[in-house]
Amino acid sequence: MTRISVTVDGTRYEDDVPSRTLLVHHLREQLGKVGTVVGCDTSNCGACTVLMTDPDGVPRGVKSCTVLAVQADGREVTTIEGLGGDHPVQRAFHERHALQCGYCTPGMVMAAVDLLREQPDPSDAQVREGLEGNLCRCTGYQNIVRAVQQAAAELRGNEAAVTQPVGVSGP
Ligand code: FES
Ligand code: FES
Repeated sequence: MTRISVTVDGTRYEDDVPSRTLLVHHLREQLGKVGTVVGCDTSNCGACTVLMTDPDGVPRGVKSCTVLAVQADGREVTTIEGLGGDHPVQRAFHERHALQCGYCTPGMVMAAVDLLREQPDPSDAQVREGLEGNLCRCTGYQNIVRAVQQAAAELRGNEAAVTQPVGVSGP
């Protein structure tokens, strides 16, 4: 067992964890953060994506099934639950019908938040490239791209683009 201290969604937790425990299992089973889901056992689907601060304190998207819980010691982790339900990306996914079964959505939203931190005004191609580590079996991705563009516009303060009707892909 290793004692770790991790701040998750703004709350600091101190726990003893086996050294081989994956971060995603620590989040779900020890901390009850079940919004972060496991969609594969091959590190491919991205459903488990969360934000974790790097050594410089910058929050970066990581697949939490590829990170050991002990590697999160001293870091800050943000899960889908930490966005609070009214984040521009969450609202845009809702308004643009960017999900069907919803299983990929927590990871897709976190990856989109990470993308928009690095690229506030991405092209559609850059959105697709930025989300290429996240798989969706349902939507065909078109509405996901629209949702990310709507959220990007809102985060940039571009209200005209935000209120554009559903079904129009953007300027
Ligand atoms: S659960 Fe599929 S990449 Fe982590
Ligand atoms: S909405 Fe079903 S996998 Fe993406």
